[in-house]
Amino acid sequence: MKRQILVLLAATLFTACNLGEPAREGWFTDERTAERVDSLMQLMTLEEKIGQMVLFTSDMDVTGPFMRDHYVESIENGMVGAIFNAYTAEYTRELQRIAVEETRLGIPLLFGYDVVHGHRTIFPIPLGETATWDMEAIEQSARIAAEEATAEGLHWTFSPMIDVTRDPRWGRIAESSGEDPFLTAEVARAKVRGYQGDDLTALNTMLATAKHFVAYGEPQAGRDYHTVDISEITLRNIFLPPFKATVEEGAATIMTAFNELFGVPASGSEYLLTQILRDEWNFNGFVVTDYTSINEMVPHGFARDDKHAGELALNAGVDMDMQGAVFHDYLEELVEEGKVSEAVIDQAVRRILTMKFELGLFDDPYRYSDPQRQEELVMTEENLEFARDFSRKAIVLLKNEDDVLPLSDDIGSIALIGPLADNQREMIGSWSAAGDYTQSVTLRQGIENRQGNRTRIHYARGANIDDDDKTGFGEAIAAARQAEVIVLAIGEYALQSGEAASRADISLPGVQEELFLELAKLNKPIVVVLMKGRPLTLERVDEKASAILETWFLGTTTGDAIADVLFGDYNPSGKLPVSYPRHVGQIPIFYNHKNTGRPKTEFKFTSKYLDVPNSPLYPFGYGLSYTTFDYSEVQLSSDEMAMDDVLEVMVTVTNTGDRFGEEVVQLYIRQLVGSITRPVRQLKGFEKIGLEPGESKEVRFELTWEDLAFYNADNEFAAEPGDFHLFIGTNVEDTQKAAFVLRE
Ligand code: BGC
Repeated sequence: MKRQILVLLAATLFTACNLGEPAREGWFTDERTAERVDSLMQLMTLEEKIGQMVLFTSDMDVTGPFMRDHYVESIENGMVGAIFNAYTAEYTRELQRIAVEETRLGIPLLFGYDVVHGHRTIFPIPLGETATWDMEAIEQSARIAAEEATAEGLHWTFSPMIDVTRDPRWGRIAESSGEDPFLTAEVARAKVRGYQGDDLTALNTMLATAKHFVAYGEPQAGRDYHTVDISEITLRNIFLPPFKATVEEGAATIMTAFNELFGVPASGSEYLLTQILRDEWNFNGFVVTDYTSINEMVPHGFARDDKHAGELALNAGVDMDMQGAVFHDYLEELVEEGKVSEAVIDQAVRRILTMKFELGLFDDPYRYSDPQRQEELVMTEENLEFARDFSRKAIVLLKNEDDVLPLSDDIGSIALIGPLADNQREMIGSWSAAGDYTQSVTLRQGIENRQGNRTRIHYARGANIDDDDKTGFGEAIAAARQAEVIVLAIGEYALQSGEAASRADISLPGVQEELFLELAKLNKPIVVVLMKGRPLTLERVDEKASAILETWFLGTTTGDAIADVLFGDYNPSGKLPVSYPRHVGQIPIFYNHKNTGRPKTEFKFTSKYLDVPNSPLYPFGYGLSYTTFDYSEVQLSSDEMAMDDVLEVMVTVTNTGDRFGEEVVQLYIRQLVGSITRPVRQLKGFEKIGLEPGESKEVRFELTWEDLAFYNADNEFAAEPGDFHLFIGTNVEDTQKAAFVLRE
């Protein structure tokens, strides 16, 4: 019997790959795929269908992969459709063999993994990637990540993470693109294009996942997994746009968030998963939950028990249960009891199987698990070269007093100090997939690689990252005394940001600031290299440092990339994707806030603090260069625009310094009066340009009504006639202004 079915399947499915139509035209528009999915589903029992909706993790550790026995058993029983945290060509091939050869229908497994900022070659953490403002490079980084991951048997990444994040206490800000919906949406699109390419049947493309749907980035008090309570207006204008953008870009899957919204946990929200995602946006990929988030509806106080949670999740619009085993354990019973319908299950299974066809898995289930491709494509010279260039683009120059940077090639001595100066382990950051930290280049190695014997390095650790041990201070001060310049690498542990890594105090951990202050007393030039996953409160460092480089966690090629910037082989061009607070009490602090009825003045009864300014330490979009740029006045094609007009906006930027540099030209708008109050600034465009010394370029933007529109109190996306201001400049606070009127 089993053989007969397999033969039948082979005949039905043989031509299932090469589906012709580009994926992003929709996953269910291809009739041939739909027919093949249907004919397969006719052969499936209810139990087998439910199996496709189950995602289980395997366990991998540094010495090699292993899997708990009962997951293997579940694969053998056809009760698992997808596995995550299993990679390498060999291991995925072994698990795939069980699914294909030992189950009745031989339906291949889908292998997922958190390939978030690179797979083996690790790129900057996403907050750093975004700081490049270079969408081509971001797309290319996702392309390379997909190339490496698919060569190790993976089909599906749980990325991009596109939670707009306005609270740096929340550790997952490291995985995000920061505080702005427009910039986050652009990054989201670039990443989806990079992972998925034009053709999912290609061996080097994989399914993307937009996560976490939605508003997970705004937990109360910045504490991970905490309640989210925002208005519908904020949801639609701030948190949804990046997700909508990924749906438009053809993202294959969406992951639900852990948090509740409007009192309903996201995995049980019919409003989010069906009304918005399916009915409003026509999303036709599949919805996967986050890790056990169906089960978590019980402690949330939304479901009585796991079974009830499963019912709520399925009926809300979840297609696949990550790790919770709720669908696995209860769906059949729920169908028998009439609590969920088999038609809804069929729909979920159809969506999941469609993706397996799109990937070509029915043509050859082992096609991605190819040891030779793995050998050839992973951590190649080319990938590492790209990583170095990408990483240096992510560095943001926050301060450079008296042009202390770049350092001279001939500098005789450097005191290289700090717990992160010669630290491989932290460099790859959190969520670093299959990255191997022992392959990462430390700052010390990077400086030595470049300078060789030319420069004497006096290295001292000085302090640990996060304790109160000051016994290393003496050695650090002695090292500093011997050198022309101090380079101090300080920050956080990689896992002080990322998941379950919220901090209430976001100053430098341990005694690092004290170490800095001691060194600053020596009156030598002091260059601070920051390594961390979030903005920290750095007022005292900013006051006393000669130069500051924000380097996030830059990944495998960290040290070489930082050395490129320190010595001027690369002129820094990164810009902050998030505002840096002066004080933790200012949080949430973000540039696109409202004006209030009492905007700050010297008068007492206005919106301000008694003890701290309202402004951030470093504003959104901020970042210096070793050269200088001059902006002309802004020119508009007209000072009036009708709803169907295109308004052209022009500005000329000149490099007024003496070296090549790149500038991110940023465009913001403000609508002065609206049916609901409008933010004081909104990013609506940016362009990164390169200029030789003395060179000028005209940058042009085009604005249509859609750029001026927003979701109003009736949830309609519309532009409203009225007065607008427009700002173009080098960061949100340093701009040229123009004005125009939008007519009916
Ligand atoms: C995270 C997700 C991740 C998943 C699988 C969860 O804890 O929230 O972002 O994709 O684990 O590793």
